[in-house]
Amino acid sequence: MEIIEEIRALKQRRNALILAHYYVDGQIQAVADYVGDSYFLSKKAAETDCDLIVFCGVRFMAESAKLLNPGKTVLLPDASADCPMAHMAGVREIEEMREIHPDLAVVCYINSTAEIKAHSDVCVTSSNAVKVVSALPNSTIYFIPDGNLARHVAEKVPEKRFLYGHGHCPVHQAVTAGDVRAAKVRHPQAQVLVHPECPKEVVDLSDYAGSTAGIIEYAGKSQAEEFIIGTEIGVMYELERRNPGKRFYPVKDGMICPDMKLNSLQNLLAALKDGKNAVNLSKEQMENALPPLKRMHEIAQ
Ligand code: 13P
Ligand code: SF4
Repeated sequence: MEIIEEIRALKQRRNALILAHYYVDGQIQAVADYVGDSYFLSKKAAETDCDLIVFCGVRFMAESAKLLNPGKTVLLPDASADCPMAHMAGVREIEEMREIHPDLAVVCYINSTAEIKAHSDVCVTSSNAVKVVSALPNSTIYFIPDGNLARHVAEKVPEKRFLYGHGHCPVHQAVTAGDVRAAKVRHPQAQVLVHPECPKEVVDLSDYAGSTAGIIEYAGKSQAEEFIIGTEIGVMYELERRNPGKRFYPVKDGMICPDMKLNSLQNLLAALKDGKNAVNLSKEQMENALPPLKRMHEIAQ
């Protein structure tokens, strides 16, 4: 039996839901039940009545699915698929900030560990951060871990005071204004669409900055026929699938998240077969990291 057919058959037998982020390989996206950005996938995880969730993404995504489904098994095809930015915030800094600024809302990007979520007031993703932060009663926001996303949101919510985390995504941080200018020389008619995890000078040169789903939606609606894409290369699969007449160029070579690329058809099949790599969180983390995640869903709804 072909591997794809085997995955489909096992998925049915196990009553499993396969979720895949836009950054995983196209062949995994093709076999998944849902493909999306981190907010959409987290919603799908919250809604499911399947017995098993296999999350083709990175650990913080699978952890969020587990928090929203404490009674279900959530598997990561490769247990080592992690997001380095998720670890770029600390509990001690949060506690220190809370002492200095009593009216503080600690806003944590979903790209964070369950421990960081547990010490935060609310989670956000790049697609709902402006809405969620705007809705908070607090006037001072400590936005962690991503300093680039924090600055992007701060510009859109000028009425609040922001304190920025110092984390970054190694993939998006590596894009420079020079890369964007060089890509524009190569493709002068193209619009520039970037993820807000890119540095400010890159976002400032773009025509649109938004989540992976936002980029895909923008490209579909735009009258333009060519686009320079400033995010992980995996989004090309959906961009090209939805827009066969349009052309998409990566802003630079090497826009690859090595952790997302740890997901493969082989380890997806193995996860369905043997149920290994279940995501487990401590009782304390389960209890304390869920409310900020739930609050995000309530506000972003
Ligand atoms: P999205 O929320 O846009 O899917 O982004 C997740 C991510 O990890 C970006 O690097
Ligand atoms: Fe984390 Fe960056 Fe990979 Fe997204 S692309 S999962 S932020 S390392």
